[in-house]
Amino acid sequence: MSKHQASHFATQAIHAGYNPIQHQGALTPPIQISSTYAFESVQQGGAAFQGDNDRFIYARLGSPSQHILERRLAELEKAEAALATASGIGAITSAIWSFLKPGDELIADLSLYGCTYSFLEHGLKQFGVEVTYLNLTDASTLINHISDKTKMVYSETPTNPNMRLVDIAALAEITRQYDCKLMIDNTYCTPYLQNPLSLGADLVVHSATKYLGGHGDLIAGFVAGTQEDIDHIRMVGLKDMTGAVISGFDVSLLLRGLKTLHVRMDRHCQNAQQVAEYLSTSDYVKHIFYPGLENCSQKTLANKQMRLPGGMIAFELNASREQSAQFVNALKMILCAVSLGDAETLVQHPASMTHSTYTEEELLEHLISPTLIRLSVGLEHIGDILFDLDQAFESVFSADRELTISA
Ligand SMILES: Cc1ncc(COP(=O)(O)O)c(C=O)c1O
Repeated sequence: MSKHQASHFATQAIHAGYNPIQHQGALTPPIQISSTYAFESVQQGGAAFQGDNDRFIYARLGSPSQHILERRLAELEKAEAALATASGIGAITSAIWSFLKPGDELIADLSLYGCTYSFLEHGLKQFGVEVTYLNLTDASTLINHISDKTKMVYSETPTNPNMRLVDIAALAEITRQYDCKLMIDNTYCTPYLQNPLSLGADLVVHSATKYLGGHGDLIAGFVAGTQEDIDHIRMVGLKDMTGAVISGFDVSLLLRGLKTLHVRMDRHCQNAQQVAEYLSTSDYVKHIFYPGLENCSQKTLANKQMRLPGGMIAFELNASREQSAQFVNALKMILCAVSLGDAETLVQHPASMTHSTYTEEELLEHLISPTLIRLSVGLEHIGDILFDLDQAFESVFSADRELTISA
């Protein structure tokens, strides 16, 4: 337990769960890589297995430095407990496997991160769980569909890659009337911008690979909720089903990343707002999806549940699919890469990359335009980000304009 009883996010991100004085003064929690833990006796080991003492047993069930990380993550997400995992998909699958069985139904929003969709389609469905996709941006669609066999409702908000928002409180009001868990993927927001549990969700999951780590040097995830649910996920989904255990080295990198999360997020949001405003004045851009823009159709909802609009932008060009890809290729400083939330501004074309497992029909069904471009606005100087976008527009469209004129 930390001696700090801090209530502010910035202080919790730096101090929660750790008191250096209890660790020979080491400011940075030690990296623990032990796979197993010794007991003084069989009796003490037996009691640990029964949960009658708090000794560590085996690293698949947790380690002392992982425990520090989990206390910090729980504080930041305003949760009773958290479980850190080897990846975001490790957190999502460990949680879903823990609560669903054949014959149950999971309802998911139409738009999801590509590999979450693949897991539902190619994993969960094969084991007899019914998966239904609904447009959860309108909570009434859930009222019309939910039944006693629905055991989980799952959504990202904002969604990857197309920045749709769902009203967490409105969905929670519906799921609460059933024996059904509402699980929200909060990766795009981080706990600095949005706390789904405080809005009524039962579980929150994250890819910590993104903003939480923040430097593109680790893969990790976590799930947070009540102590009872997290104990269940640790002992069933993680221990027996996925084994998606976070490494001691990644625990350390993640604790380091969290210390600057609030500072980085403020700058991500500031830069993204300026990029969104720039794009919204461009003749080459058809649609832009960013909740910080005054004309965003979900601005009221964003103001209700998000503290700031975030660092992610999605937009469609007034152009063909090929030209959209050409635009991405024409960027010089901005890197074409998947992942998001790093210091570097990253751009990608979901239909060709993260969502390329979708057929053309599935892309349309799941509201992902084949010309959509996803931008993770980084921490570089805003002038350099705007300059790069500008020169890419010029290089793709001025050539095109000349062609049109001469044709
Ligand atoms: C919204 C969202 N959820 C989950 C994941 C999966 O996380 P990971 O890559 O850490 O397994 C990602 C990855 O991009 C994501 O964007």
